[in-house]
Amino acid sequence: MASIAPSILSADFGRLAEEVRAVTAGGADLVHVDVMDGRFVPPITIGPIVVAAIRRATHLPLDVHLMIDTPERQVDEFVRAGANGLTVHVEAARDVPALLAAIAQHGARRGLALNPPTSLDAVRPFVHAIDLLLVMSVNPGWGGQPFVDGSLEKLAAARRLRSETGARFVIEVDGGIKPHNAAEALAAGADVLVAGSAIFESADYAATIRSLRGA
Ligand code: DX5
Ligand code: ZN
Repeated sequence: MASIAPSILSADFGRLAEEVRAVTAGGADLVHVDVMDGRFVPPITIGPIVVAAIRRATHLPLDVHLMIDTPERQVDEFVRAGANGLTVHVEAARDVPALLAAIAQHGARRGLALNPPTSLDAVRPFVHAIDLLLVMSVNPGWGGQPFVDGSLEKLAAARRLRSETGARFVIEVDGGIKPHNAAEALAAGADVLVAGSAIFESADYAATIRSLRGA
């Protein structure tokens, strides 16, 4: 069954703990946390202090998406803050194998992300060294953007890459996921759906999570 990871980027940050508790009670499987540094992407969002606050608000795994340059410098702090998984961008990492190994040494789930213009060929060498592949279906930086054309094909290609190589990563899709396109993304290849605006701009988080899952 599909896993649903609400992205707190679209939550009300003035009531963040309450928002995290609400998606936890609403049936979320993971909490997706978007970290941006004003360099890899223009906005600046949150750092480890806020991750630690989210950690105190939920028992769910924290799926931390690092949209930052030099992620190798930040692994230790984010894991200490309570991240269960760290996803780094293949476009940002200088030494991908070393970075993935560092994440594993910290006991966290290793995620590797790629932006819409980046070919799956860029992640192919690392398929046996990751636990999760994050297919971005928007250009990272903001919530509420439309799902980029071609992302379904990329999800299908990611699933083929996994079966061809015998790799075991889960496939996550992030950006523009709404109840109306969730089923297509799952059918194409996604195992985990990230959704920010779809959930936090809805009146009933539990109902939206159920409809994303197709239940
Ligand atoms: C975009 C972030 C996403 C974002 C998704 O850079 O990585 O996680 O919050 O937001 P929606 O679901 O609104 O497209
Ligand atoms: Zn994200």
